[in-house]
Amino acid sequence: MNYVIGIDIGTSGTKSVLFDEQGGVIASSMAEYPMYQPQNGWAEQKPDDWWNAVVYTVYDIIRSSGIDPSDIKGVGMSGQMHGLVMLGENNEVLMDSIIWCDQRTSRECEEMTQKVGAKRMIDITANPALTGFTASKILWVRNNKPEIYAKCRHILLPKDYIRFKLTGEFATDVSDASGMQLLDVPNRCWSDEILDKLNISKSLLAKVYESPEVTGKVSAEAAAKTGLKEGTIVVAGAGDNAAAAVGTGIVRDGRAFTTIGTSGVVFAHTDNISIDPKGRVHTFCCAVPGCWHVMGVTQAAGLSLKWIRDNFCQAETETARSMGASPYYLMDMEAAKSPIGSNRLLYLPYLMGERTPHLDPDCRGVFFGLSAMHEKRDMIRAVMEGVVFSLNDCMNILREMKIDIQDMMACGGGGTSSVWRQMLADLYGCQVSTVNSKEGPALGAAILAFVGAGIYPDVVTACDKLVKKNKTQEPNKENAEKYAPFYQLYTELYKDLKEDFKKLASIQ
Ligand code: XUL
Repeated sequence: MNYVIGIDIGTSGTKSVLFDEQGGVIASSMAEYPMYQPQNGWAEQKPDDWWNAVVYTVYDIIRSSGIDPSDIKGVGMSGQMHGLVMLGENNEVLMDSIIWCDQRTSRECEEMTQKVGAKRMIDITANPALTGFTASKILWVRNNKPEIYAKCRHILLPKDYIRFKLTGEFATDVSDASGMQLLDVPNRCWSDEILDKLNISKSLLAKVYESPEVTGKVSAEAAAKTGLKEGTIVVAGAGDNAAAAVGTGIVRDGRAFTTIGTSGVVFAHTDNISIDPKGRVHTFCCAVPGCWHVMGVTQAAGLSLKWIRDNFCQAETETARSMGASPYYLMDMEAAKSPIGSNRLLYLPYLMGERTPHLDPDCRGVFFGLSAMHEKRDMIRAVMEGVVFSLNDCMNILREMKIDIQDMMACGGGGTSSVWRQMLADLYGCQVSTVNSKEGPALGAAILAFVGAGIYPDVVTACDKLVKKNKTQEPNKENAEKYAPFYQLYTELYKDLKEDFKKLASIQ
């Protein structure tokens, strides 16, 4: 039997999963790590926390499965996108990684737009200059920590740092590279024009591959640490959303998914490139060679619920621990006891600013309408509804762009909640389904490894064989009517508060 490993380097932790050729999970292991927020709107992680988590989880699944490492035919990786890893002359990490949800780079985005031109930026990178993306983070380091920039010899994304640790190669894939804002997205290669205008040397960047291509082999040193066999192939892999698409079978026109992980994403596959001229949603290369995807992003989706869990739900967390269950399971049950509209309480999920549709690094979270009658269950429900309102903003833009969406899947931690899935079905007004595997990005990364190892001929064939639709939630018209006035008010609140968010951000 042939096996592969899919590794998903996420924001809350890393998950490694060993799959058999039928996509069955043989063993799975997760290790968590912190996200540091040294200032309001900043977000950093330690690349070596990711590496330690990979070493621990890969070792753990190989040991617990008892499988001979020589039967593991390949490794695929999926990773949180946009994070900046800078290495020095001896390949040492020069600073903590500034990650995707960090919002410190407004000034650098203005600098980029001025140097490249707003329209040219969208023509080449398929997106306007964004605080979340890597290029503005690189300029921030150059502007604010010139001594570190001067020492930098390699710039990598989170999963590509892990690839370097596993294989010694500097490589990336087209889907993740799209989120650096240095890639010519229509032509799937680094853009000399952007690099020249921003004065960034191409020699700092990794070699770009299509997602199922082999980028290197596990080194003797990495083999000794992880338990993998030296020489095992490592494929290019994909950014977490492109990998989740493969893991949920979103590999053809008409298919889309919503994921609720730390961030929330509404993602649609497109065989041909399609760009929002207003730049409100991202267009990236996807993990199916030669294809693209369009996606809208809610910065703090699962992060909002995690925030309420960590700050207000100690009791649920304790009870869940004694039951051997997840605190989110109990929080879901609480939310289900509050009515649609959470007894007239609204939540804007802008804890880390917002991308779609506002592209605003300065906005922040809001509970609107708090009353003495509200209970914790209303607050939990309001948070879940606020996240879905934001995802509905993304969906509305995809519809405005006439992207064909016939099948909507739900995935990520939040996709396992039937309360959340029903809210999505009601707000979107369409069926929302899940697939037979819960492993989303890790399965997607594994499928890319199966293709790279020659076990399946291509990504679409592998998905057709391995990914099947499971449960479907139908939209409920009565619910939709009840949500409508709350969603309407939600969209107005941002407009009303926009200038106040700026004032708040400017207070020293
Ligand atoms: C996508 C994005 C997030 C991260 C973390 O543009 O920033 O989805 O990939 O999951």
